[in-house]
Amino acid sequence: MCTVVSLVSIVRMKALTFVGIVVALSNAKTPCQPRDFGHGSVVCLCTADYCDTLEPLGPIPNNKFYHLVSSQDGERFEVSYGEIGNHSLDLPDVVIRINKTETFQKILGFGGAFTDSTALNLAVLSKDLQRQILKAYYGKNGLEYNLGRTNMGSCDFSSRLYSYDDVEGDVSLDHFALVEEDNLKIRYIKEAQKLNPDIKLFASPWTAPKWMKTNNQFFGQGSLRTEFYPAWATYFVKFLEEYEKLGVQFWAVTAQNEPLDGILPNFSFNCMGWTPGQQRDWIKNNLGPTLASSKFNQTKIIILDDQRPLIVIWARAVLRDPDAAKYISGIGLHWYGDIYPPTILEQAHKEFPEYFLLGTEACIGSNPLEEAVLLGSWNRAERYASDIIQDLNHWVTGWTDWNLVLDLEGGPNWAGNTVDAPIIVDNVTDRAYKQPMYYALGHFSKFIPRDSVRIGFESEDSKGLHVLAVQRPDNVTVLVILNQNDVSISVAIQDSQNKRIEVSVGQHSLHTIAY
Ligand SMILES: *[C@@H]1O[C@H](CO)[C@@H](O)[C@H](O)[C@H]1NC(C)=O
Ligand SMILES: *[C@@H]1O[C@H](CO)[C@@H](O)[C@H](O)[C@H]1NC(C)=O
Ligand SMILES: *[C@@H]1O[C@H](CO)[C@@H](O)[C@H](O)[C@H]1NC(C)=O
Ligand SMILES: *[C@@H]1O[C@H](CO)[C@@H](O)[C@H](O)[C@H]1NC(C)=O
Ligand SMILES: *[C@@H]1O[C@H](CO)[C@@H](O)[C@H](O)[C@H]1NC(C)=O
Ligand SMILES: *[C@@H]1O[C@H](CO)[C@@H](O)[C@H](O)[C@H]1NC(C)=O
Repeated sequence: MCTVVSLVSIVRMKALTFVGIVVALSNAKTPCQPRDFGHGSVVCLCTADYCDTLEPLGPIPNNKFYHLVSSQDGERFEVSYGEIGNHSLDLPDVVIRINKTETFQKILGFGGAFTDSTALNLAVLSKDLQRQILKAYYGKNGLEYNLGRTNMGSCDFSSRLYSYDDVEGDVSLDHFALVEEDNLKIRYIKEAQKLNPDIKLFASPWTAPKWMKTNNQFFGQGSLRTEFYPAWATYFVKFLEEYEKLGVQFWAVTAQNEPLDGILPNFSFNCMGWTPGQQRDWIKNNLGPTLASSKFNQTKIIILDDQRPLIVIWARAVLRDPDAAKYISGIGLHWYGDIYPPTILEQAHKEFPEYFLLGTEACIGSNPLEEAVLLGSWNRAERYASDIIQDLNHWVTGWTDWNLVLDLEGGPNWAGNTVDAPIIVDNVTDRAYKQPMYYALGHFSKFIPRDSVRIGFESEDSKGLHVLAVQRPDNVTVLVILNQNDVSISVAIQDSQNKRIEVSVGQHSLHTIAY
């Protein structure tokens, strides 16, 4: 199937070169080079001189809708146009009624993380392949990502343990200095910013220097010693200053990556424990005032940066104190506890509607029962897409993936906590594999620009389809539909203005529909 479709796209591309008039309806993409590693579906191979692309969504012809499909069967961003008002289905399996007057949260965006490992993996590839990968994520013909995260000091996705000031007792931080990994990350962040000048970047610390901590270790159970509360806030300002000197500015910081980890006994990689009360007091007395009185007074503070089940307890403990809350803009969420029902997100939004909810980390493969890397797993794409739809349908404003690029083993990770990523590289053959997860993210990131607004829909029986509907700033309506069933389902989308769109949603496939 993939080969036939690819041939069609090549023919269409040629038509595009010679006959300008075809542009609006052409399949403006270069096709995937599929490779099957026997894990259920295919990856798309990128090399220094070839990587599949997809043009941004241009104007949609009147009375037509744009339809993008990726599937377990091997479709990757297959574009077609259909007629609005095609009433060929008398009894569709599912009817989705759009209600544009029912509006919810504004969307912040989508992205991934410039971890040390991402930078180390990119650095050993050819310059041309590095560029292909950054374009694949942040470029106009790529996923058009507009969020980026980075680790502030070492994390598990580093090849070694360090902080920016490992000189014991240096409370004035005279020896604060960035490391070689930062130079690499900054190089790639700046390349991404050239591709998309509107990236919101945020940084997260995993741990303070050992000497500031109760356990004198980068990992394990331990917290920040209270006498170093001021120094740890100054450390954030120093970090922002050093990055700014090298040309990178941050939109936000999270107060701590996964503050619960450092409360657990013997936690195996970089962490620092905070109770919600401790985080509240440190933000109120130290981080908040220190940032506010620095030139980084516009840098936003995100709390939690940890698992979904904690959200209400955490938000109540921190945000009910107005002297802490006034410094805070949002609540960060990691996805590893998303088996917990999303109604807790509704509760958090209801109690604290002025604070954005943002997905700040997600990845698959950390569970020891799973393979770290599974090249071509469609199941992992479905897990990403269903989580994004669920989060966004419960007030979450965006979704940040974890490592942008990992190696074939899912590393490097000094602690052995290897995982999967949407782009996996083979540093021997200078190849990159775009996983089904990459396309899953693109079905959202490429079509739901910042400031799009989620809108309402109703469906009496959705037959297990996952559905998301948004209205873009340019007034285009976008639906993302995931079918995890083993059967194909016919869908009629009934717009409130009497527009009807009919599509067939194949088994194990992901669809973006825009009109
Ligand atoms: C009308 O809808 C049917 C069912 O989805 C589809 O097979 C057909 O191609 C559509 N026709 C047009 C012109 O969009
Ligand atoms: C659409 O949503 C609005 C706002 O929530 C609601 O008042 C209205 O009843 C809805 N319309 C339909 C047809 O359900
Ligand atoms: C944590 O490590 C200590 C020292 O190695 C050991 O005695 C203890 O049993 C460990 N606790 C857990 C919960 O694994
Ligand atoms: C924030 O910092 C900028 C740059 O240093 C400064 O010009 C501005 O006055 C500050 N704003 C506030 C509210 O302190
Ligand atoms: C290349 O990738 C392999 C995993 O396939 C990894 O073990 C090795 O450390 C990487 N080499 C470099 C130089 O990054
Ligand atoms: C979108 O629609 C609204 C309401 O109809 C209109 O005011 C606005 O100008 C439109 N925006 C664009 C970019 O077309």
